[in-house]
Amino acid sequence: MKLEGRAALITGAGSGIGRAIALRFAAEGASVAVNDIVSETAAKTVEAMGATRERAFAVQADVSSSAEVKAMFAQVSERFGGLEILVNNAGVAEFGPDQTAEVNRKAEARIGEMMAGGPLRTHWDMTQELSDADWHRMIGVHLNGTFFCTREALKLMSARNRGVIINISSVAALRGIEIAAHYGAAKGGILAFTRSLAHEVASRNIRVNAICPGWVETAMTGGFSFMLRAFTTSQIPMRRWAEPDEIAGTALFLASDDSSYFTGQWLSPNGGLFTG
Ligand SMILES: NC(=O)c1ccc[n+]([C@@H]2O[C@H](COP(=O)([O-])OP(=O)(O)OC[C@H]3O[C@@H](n4cnc5c(N)ncnc54)[C@H](O)[C@@H]3O)[C@@H](O)[C@H]2O)c1
Repeated sequence: MKLEGRAALITGAGSGIGRAIALRFAAEGASVAVNDIVSETAAKTVEAMGATRERAFAVQADVSSSAEVKAMFAQVSERFGGLEILVNNAGVAEFGPDQTAEVNRKAEARIGEMMAGGPLRTHWDMTQELSDADWHRMIGVHLNGTFFCTREALKLMSARNRGVIINISSVAALRGIEIAAHYGAAKGGILAFTRSLAHEVASRNIRVNAICPGWVETAMTGGFSFMLRAFTTSQIPMRRWAEPDEIAGTALFLASDDSSYFTGQWLSPNGGLFTG
């Protein structure tokens, strides 16, 4: 087992990618703190761990609140006495039902216009319509949340001069995303934070890397229409989206000693969508 005797905290682990990472780490011998803003889903992830759930616990906290993050780390410290692995995974896409319907409608109109060979007359206009609240929420959960959790984790990791931090960014940080520039900005910020922090904490034997997934089958992307899914899939050389467990495999590599010479890097499981 690759993570025997190590304590890990995974944020946003009640669903999707975070849940898959939590289950994989537990199966590899880690003691796992399962965070989510929704306590019931965090508890369900712990339940799904089978016998290894004895080493795990669920901890509810909103990662965009530094006070809640501090309280969460107090629980982690009390329970585990330290922390070897942090995965900053919690995220939102902030598409309410109305917005999702509008994105799907525009996507279908644009696909029709592209296939007709003419100019695009349907414009996304997402950013000019974006509210202050939606911008701040996106930056707050992804970028502030990553900082708040990392700051507390570093205090525990520095005490032993040992640790691994994995930040979930996105292919949106590498190639852009036309329907959510605020999401791209948050994920790009996470990538830049990863690189700088890796330089800062290397002398403490703490490695910091990012994962930039392409399209993954989770609740976050569940509202995409058939046409929008078909369009995104058509851009992927492997012609399919990833399953959450395929991202968990990358996280396990970065958390384990198999990646002992990796720091400040990004790995992008994306089916060939971005190869730069
Ligand atoms: N699904 C994709 O295609 C895709 C692609 C690239 C990157 N990502 C990133 O992967 C990460 C996981 O997303 P997912 O696709 O598994 O989505 P998901 O919606 O299945 O899971 C996200 C989880 O984060 C939790 N969460 C949201 N806000 C939170 C907060 N403030 N504090 C604590 N928990 C919070 C949610 O309750 C949910 O359980 C996100 O950072 C996302 O941006 C997803």
